[in-house]
Amino acid sequence: MVKKLLFVCLGNICRSPAAETIMQDKIKAKNLSEHFYCDSAGTGNYHVGGLADARMREAAEKRGYLIKSRARQIQHQDLKEFDYVVVMDKSNFNNVCALTQDENLKSKVVMMLNYNSLDDCLEVPDPYFGGDEGFQYVLNLLENACENLLNKLSH
Ligand code: 4NP
Repeated sequence: MVKKLLFVCLGNICRSPAAETIMQDKIKAKNLSEHFYCDSAGTGNYHVGGLADARMREAAEKRGYLIKSRARQIQHQDLKEFDYVVVMDKSNFNNVCALTQDENLKSKVVMMLNYNSLDDCLEVPDPYFGGDEGFQYVLNLLENACENLLNKLSH
């Protein structure tokens, strides 16, 4: 059965599109494409329809990732359709959980950095208002956490 993963941040233009693309590339590299489906969404609607932030696309491209997604806002239906809703920070966690009263659906929501072994950071920091080093740090965290999450889900 295909495992469906939805990565979620606030705007769906920095962290979650990067997570989606990194995970998709790892899935492809491990020949697991028929077993997984990835998408991303934001809890906010400010950037709906837009490409990912140019700074994130550029930083990711330097590492070989092509981010092509368009921003969309998470819907209640996503909690039914996806098996794992992987959020970047606690605020995303609370906002996604607030979409439902159903404890079974809430139990699909997990923090991305539960799978991080790089340092003891618990949240992927929002890089939007910072400089280039913030985007690099986010990519470091996401590469590490995606690798660990994929290993966990594919064994
Ligand atoms: P993201 O970053 O949640 O990683 O996509 C942000 C993008 C835009 C805004 C905030 C965070 N914003 O306030 O417009």
